[in-house]
Amino acid sequence: MRALLMILGLSLSLQAAYGKIFERCELAGVMKMLGLDGYRGYSLPNWVCTANYESSFNTRATNFNRGDNSTDYGILQINSHWWCEDGKTPRSKNACQTACSAFLQDDITAAVACAKRVVQDPAGMGAWVAWRTHCKGRDLSPWIKGCKLEIV
Ligand SMILES: *[C@@H]1O[C@H](CO)[C@@H](O)[C@H](O)[C@H]1NC(C)=O
Repeated sequence: MRALLMILGLSLSLQAAYGKIFERCELAGVMKMLGLDGYRGYSLPNWVCTANYESSFNTRATNFNRGDNSTDYGILQINSHWWCEDGKTPRSKNACQTACSAFLQDDITAAVACAKRVVQDPAGMGAWVAWRTHCKGRDLSPWIKGCKLEIV
């Protein structure tokens, strides 16, 4: 039992050590570089705000949904029922044709590419509960305030 707990503790601390937690302006810069600023009409701070409330800027964030046994992955919490394959979600559609683990990488290119697909559906960014709850219709300028975005 003690050995099991030690292994569990070690794997938790390793996960914490390897996961990348973005700094706000760093994420804004990378998202801009990857073409999210104005994508489908959503300005950059919409994306930064959403990432904050979905994952706290943590690329390794995962959350299990008891309702349909799906899991949300990564900085933008992309869902395994619709968008990616994780080998354990019943009736997954895998619309982004990607392994969900790709959305947990420090390099957020794959997560952003799939987010661009998600936002093309009629709901737009309404697909993200965090966007509807915390970002939609608000003054979002604080999310990119002080960021030197012209450098990227
Ligand atoms: C989710 O998983 C549990 C445990 O395996 C199972 O009992 C339940 O039917 C599943 N729900 C759905 C919607 O697949």
